[in-house]
Amino acid sequence: MYQSHAERRARLMRTLGAGVAVLPTAPEVRRNADTHYPYRGDSHFLYLTGFTEPDAVLVLDADQGRSILFCREKNLEREIWDGFRHGPDGAREAFGFDEAYPLAELDSRMPDILSGRSQLAWPLGRDAAFDARVAGWLDAVRARFRLGIDAPDRFADLLAPMDEMRMVKDEGEIEIMRRAGRISAEAHVLAMQATRPGGYEYQVEAEILRHFIHNGARFPSYESIVAGGANACVLHYVGNSARLADGDLLLIDAGCELGGYAGDITRTFPVNGRFSGPQRDVYEVVLAAELAAIDAIRPGALWNAAGDAALRVLVRGMLDLKLLSGSEDGVIESQDYRRFYMHGIGHMLGLDVHDVGRRKVDGQWRALRPGMVTTVEPGLYIRPDDTVPAAFHNIGIRVEDDVLVTEDGCDVYTSAAPKRIEDIEALMAAR
Ligand code: GLY
Ligand code: MN
Ligand code: MN
Repeated sequence: MYQSHAERRARLMRTLGAGVAVLPTAPEVRRNADTHYPYRGDSHFLYLTGFTEPDAVLVLDADQGRSILFCREKNLEREIWDGFRHGPDGAREAFGFDEAYPLAELDSRMPDILSGRSQLAWPLGRDAAFDARVAGWLDAVRARFRLGIDAPDRFADLLAPMDEMRMVKDEGEIEIMRRAGRISAEAHVLAMQATRPGGYEYQVEAEILRHFIHNGARFPSYESIVAGGANACVLHYVGNSARLADGDLLLIDAGCELGGYAGDITRTFPVNGRFSGPQRDVYEVVLAAELAAIDAIRPGALWNAAGDAALRVLVRGMLDLKLLSGSEDGVIESQDYRRFYMHGIGHMLGLDVHDVGRRKVDGQWRALRPGMVTTVEPGLYIRPDDTVPAAFHNIGIRVEDDVLVTEDGCDVYTSAAPKRIEDIEALMAAR
């Protein structure tokens, strides 16, 4: 994999054209007292390096095509407590950097690195403390003007070109994303098998997390949503603490992170294994919308096509079920549907669950390209309301898959988790 990281660095340097780019990884974050949240590096940094230690900064010299890493030094005492550190020499060897130095030398070395360069790119404005540090280096270079040394006078945001690169996944990324998708989909099957009336949401969550961890995916790519009954109408419900009632649906939105890459799947199924009439009616609308969206995903299709296709199906369904009244076009125009469908059709997927990449370029929707990965996730969420038939109250349904744009269409690589009503009921009947 490190060869592909080196290729990405080279590609980014060609895009930047000249000068120097600087990219720090993410900081460690304290949870309480002396414990920390599980460490996760910055996604752009991981994309360019594969280096997962904290306290590291990547410097790219686009004029000479060289990669320089600043990282923690070897430290036997700290390694006894916290584990292995590559140290600069080890990191250079193992990850293919041209040079590597202790992080403590960053401030003293950067003015030399920046002397006489035309351009400096970094994640401008993302972190005020880092911006101030960059300003300090520039100040030091500018003080050298009497020596005939020029400081960079062109400043570029590093995030935008990186976002653009990350949007189209390479072979190695696609392979690992398929694995993340497979593990995530298997976890949804296990969740369906483990669900019983009288059990608790967190018990189902435990099955999911067990499967992730058992397969080497130590963490979910976002907090799992395990939402029974009315909880499914809270879009980001993560309490996962309620008892599961006979006759309710269970909405699960959960995916693992593997090698830094996210899975993101939602399934909704009956706690007792059998959909009721009204649940079935709403479910069929959501599933039809999901399939219509997937049908619209292919190279060259505009980003909004899938969402528009799903919206038509959802609105037609809401009118048929008498959740709304009026005409299809009128409801779309007025956005009345937002009472029951208030989020978008999906998002790019990659190192971040809501991955980078602009959906519009120069005001126009972007065309899909092979190697892009997107989620498709329509839903309907019906809160109790006098204007809505009571049979539908508290039904919340979403169906979400991860979809790779291929050369001639798309590949729904999370379909191992059943989503047709017959398939879900058959799986649950065999519990
Ligand atoms: N789980 C977050 C999302 O589906 O976007
Ligand atoms: Mn999701
Ligand atoms: Mn999603």
